[in-house]
Amino acid sequence: MRLIILGPPGAGKGTQAAKLVERHDIVQLSTGDMLRAAVAAETPVGLEARDLMARGELVPDEVVVAIISDRIEENDARNGFILDGFPRTVAQANALDTILAQKRMELDAVVELKVNESILLDRVNHRVSQSNGNARPDDNPEALKKRLGVYREQTAPLIAFYDGKGLLRSVDGMAPVEEVTRQIEGALNA
Ligand code: AP5
Repeated sequence: MRLIILGPPGAGKGTQAAKLVERHDIVQLSTGDMLRAAVAAETPVGLEARDLMARGELVPDEVVVAIISDRIEENDARNGFILDGFPRTVAQANALDTILAQKRMELDAVVELKVNESILLDRVNHRVSQSNGNARPDDNPEALKKRLGVYREQTAPLIAFYDGKGLLRSVDGMAPVEEVTRQIEGALNA
C-alpha cells in the first residue's frame, strides 16, 4: 500500500502514520524526521535546512524530492510506504507523480486529517511538554504561525490536486487518536 498523509502542523500525521505502519507492514517516510536527522548529523543538506526549519519555512523542493526519490527505492519500502510531510507543494506533488511513474508505482490513497487551526497550538504545546527539554526548534508560537501560513498557501492546494485524481480520503482529525485511526481504516477500505 502506498499512501500520503496530509494535514497542517500538529494535525496528527506522524501519530497516525505510526499506526498505519504497524497495521499494514509498510514504512513511514517522514521528510521532517529525515531532515531533522540531517540537521543533527550536520550533513550539507542539514546545514542548508537548519535555519529554514527553525523559522517554519520550507526546505527547497529539489532537496526533499531527491531525498524521497532515493528513499522509496530502498528495500524496506518494497511492501509500501506512507509519506508523512511530503509532498508539501504542487511542484513536489508533480515531481512525485514523475518519480512513481518512472518506478512503475501507484498511490493508493491520500489521507487528509481535517482539524481546526485553533487546537494546533495546544497540540504542539503538549508535544513540547513531553519532550524532556528536547523540544523541536520550530515548536513555538512564532514558528507555528509561520508553518500554518505556509501550509495554507503552499500545501492546502494539494487537497484539490488529489481530489481531482480521485485519491483523497478526508477524516476528522479532531477525534481521539484511536477514533481517527478507525476512520482512516474505514476510508481506506471503502
Ligand atoms: P514536519 O516534521 O513534517 O512537521 P509538520 O508538518 O509541521 O507536522 P508536525 O510534525 O508538527 O505534526 P504532525 O501532523 O506529525 O502531528 P503529530 O502526530 O506529531 O516538518 C517540519 C519542517 O521540516 C517543515 O516546517 C519544513 O521546514 C521541513 N520540511 C518537512 N518536509 C518538507 C517538505 N516536503 N518540503 C519542504 N520542507 C519540508 O501530533 C502533534 C501532537 O498532537 C502530539 O503531541 C500528539 O501526541 C498529539 N495528537 C496527535 N493526534 C491527536 C489527536 N487525535 N488528539 C489529541 N492529540 C493528538
